[in-house]
Amino acid sequence: MIPVAAPLITDRDRAQVNEALLSGWISSSGKYLDLFEERWAAYCGMPHGIAVSNGSAALDLAVALLHLKPGDEVILPAFTIISPVQSVLRAGGIPVLVDSDPRSWQMNAGHIESRITPRTKAILVVHIYGHPADMDPILDIARRHDLIVIEDAAEVHGAEYKGRRCGGLGHISTFSFYANKLVTTGEGGMVLVRSPEQAEQARSLRNLCFQKEKRFLHRELGYNFRLTNLQAALGVSQIDRIDQIVIRKREIASAYNRLLKDVPGIHLPAEEPWAKNVYWVFGLVLEEKTGLTAAQLAERLAEREVETRPFFLGMHEQPVFQNRGLFRGERYPVAERLARQGLYIPSGLALSDHQIRQVADAVRESLS
Ligand SMILES: Cc1ncc(COP(=O)(O)O)c(C=O)c1O
Repeated sequence: MIPVAAPLITDRDRAQVNEALLSGWISSSGKYLDLFEERWAAYCGMPHGIAVSNGSAALDLAVALLHLKPGDEVILPAFTIISPVQSVLRAGGIPVLVDSDPRSWQMNAGHIESRITPRTKAILVVHIYGHPADMDPILDIARRHDLIVIEDAAEVHGAEYKGRRCGGLGHISTFSFYANKLVTTGEGGMVLVRSPEQAEQARSLRNLCFQKEKRFLHRELGYNFRLTNLQAALGVSQIDRIDQIVIRKREIASAYNRLLKDVPGIHLPAEEPWAKNVYWVFGLVLEEKTGLTAAQLAERLAEREVETRPFFLGMHEQPVFQNRGLFRGERYPVAERLARQGLYIPSGLALSDHQIRQVADAVRESLS
């Protein structure tokens, strides 16, 4: 099987993790943690970084910083991974969904304003599959309605919106560094914030809300969301070569675009004129006229030794939320179609040019 996302770990990555190991700083203090936070925040153009154990934890912290009261609402895309919706619910908020743009697959900024109520506190933008959401209209709506904008930038390391990096556009941003991400620490995440007060709050929440003046006295409930210095060492080594990582992801995408552009019945990922897409994954959306769903194409590709993953299933279609009475009767046609007709093909950094051609041939044969 050609794997959908095999990570690339270099000798330098290994040497740096080994150095952290030999230093004895193996838990959540150490020079690599400080460096990882500083360098990632600087890369994204934000002043403060708080490294955490994964991207879902980063979202929990980001949403905690909103100080939601029961019944407060947060607007998010229906087409997303479940993590941001879980974070809103766990913080006592109500998730309010909007549909996606059929071309870019991003949250449709034109649908947001009609979903705003007096209880709306924030817009949680999830940039999808390597491409930025259309941020200017979203930031403009947020300004006019006095809302906080959180960017979930897990899938867009290095992607740009009008020349500015994703994760540096809103008030707060979050990242995952899971093994399939452009920069990985195995498991890992980060929250970026603009104010020193928010940074301090996030650091405290990350570490069980220990007090500075009296360590085992607690005034609030916290979490253990700490990242280790070993993981951060891997992260710093990867930030050193993020430019090459982005170049390689874009090379993989342009090879697929070249090899697949004439295949009838499939839509390839867009790159809007205002966007730099980093193609975290390379998605295909099948037209209905092919008579095939994404699940059927996935079977045909598996027979040809090509691993795939389905697109997200919309949040309104999730039993876990329907069973709680959420999103009843709501329809998001673009999210529904993407879920039914979309999948992504291998595009990990360890993929060879030969494998790219094999995958493209398999797609072509499966559709002929
Ligand atoms: C957009 C987005 N947000 C959050 C997460 C959750 O990150 P993690 O798996 O590190 O908890 C992911 C994971 O892939 C993601 O794609």
